Order: sequence, then structure tokens, then C-alpha cells
Amino acid sequence: MVSSRDFVARIEQDNEPLYRASEIQVEAFFRSGPSREAMAEHFLGRCMNEYMNLVEVAERLVKTFVELDREMVVKLAKQILDEANHYNMVAEIVERLTGRPLDVQLMIEKERSGGSAKGARCLQGIPQDDLLGLHTYQFIAEGRAVRVWQRMSEVITDELISNCYSRIAKDEKFHAAIGRQGLEALARTEKDQARVQSLVNDMRRELYIISAENCLEVPEARRLVEDAYGPLGESAA
Ligand SMILES: [Fe+2]
Ligand SMILES: [Fe+2]
Repeated sequence: MVSSRDFVARIEQDNEPLYRASEIQVEAFFRSGPSREAMAEHFLGRCMNEYMNLVEVAERLVKTFVELDREMVVKLAKQILDEANHYNMVAEIVERLTGRPLDVQLMIEKERSGGSAKGARCLQGIPQDDLLGLHTYQFIAEGRAVRVWQRMSEVITDELISNCYSRIAKDEKFHAAIGRQGLEALARTEKDQARVQSLVNDMRRELYIISAENCLEVPEARRLVEDAYGPLGESAA
């Protein structure tokens, strides 16, 4: 069995094809010149995703409080505040695009009745008292978010929005670092490493499909992911 540090380092290395594919797809979406409506829809999805991250992490902090060390309590609380700020920033972008106040109720209802592609969907499938699952999600999905927000900040020409995105990317880096710390502390047995690996395999595929659905699927990106993780199947995106 490898040490938890080496185990996490290998996962990080193997995330690269997913992250690269996500960058390619988000860049393709913004460079395709989407209409104002398509942009509003895209950012409404991102807004809902920030809301879901806020709620999911908050619920997990409450559920696992007694088994967390105090340093982790503070870090998760900081993540919750960050997600609230991201939610607010993305909501302002949506409002700028639509010219009207965000209808929060409608946004939540829309998600309930089918919803669209969001990274936080991966977290919802994991029990709320499952810290190994939370840290795996943080490491993979928040790590992907760093790259996606960073790439958006490079592709978008509006300076104000671009600065706001690189700030979000910086926060997501902190969230991925919480995941790394948690995994290095908890993924210490063969059984736990096998479980993390299985979650990682599922999440990488799901996150690729989500990226293809809410951006633009690019054949080069799909190839990268299939070469690394195996065929995605007909139904993928
Ligand atoms: Fe966020
Ligand atoms: Fe985050």
C-alpha cells in the first residue's frame, strides 16, 4: 500500500486530462460567441452550483462537527463563506445579463424539476457524514473549478468580470487544498484508498459529462478523457 501522500499525489497527476478537457470546453463555449440568453443560462447554472456547494458543505459541517478537529472546522466555515461570496458575485453577473433581479425561488425550482449540469451534483450522491467522500469531492471538483474559473478569467474581456473570476479561482484553490489535507489525513488504509479511487473514477467521468453539457463538447477534449479513463459510452453528453 502506498502512503496517503503518494496516493493523493497520484490522483492529482491523473486528474490532469479531466482538467485540461474542462479548460478546452469552457474556452470553446466563450469563444463561440454565445447569445446574451445563452450566457445568462450558463451563469444561472454556475450560480445554482455555488448555492449547492454552500448548502452541501454547511450541512456536512454540522453533521460531522464532533469528529472534526478545530482547524478543519474553521477551514470548512471559510469555504462556506467563500461559496456565499461566489454565489453573490455570479448572481450579479446573471442580473447584469438579464437586466432583472435574480429569482432565487425560480432558480431552485428549476433545479428540482430536472436541473442542469453541475459539479455539486457529485457531492449530493455522497452521504452527509462521509468525510472521505467530501474531501474527495473537494480535491477533484474544486480542483477542476480552479482551472475552469482561471481559464474563464483569461478568455473574458470585461476586466471587472475577469478580476472577479480570478478571485473565485483563488478561493477554489483553497477548497481543493482542504480536500488534499483531508485525504492525506484519512485515506490511510487499503480499504479507504480503494473507496476514494472508486469515487474518483466516477467523479472524473461525471465531471467531464457535466463540462460537455454546460459548455461545448470538443472532440479533442473527449479524446483526452477517453484515453486516460476509458470509453465514455454513447450516452455521454
Ligand atoms: Fe465556489
Ligand atoms: Fe468551492
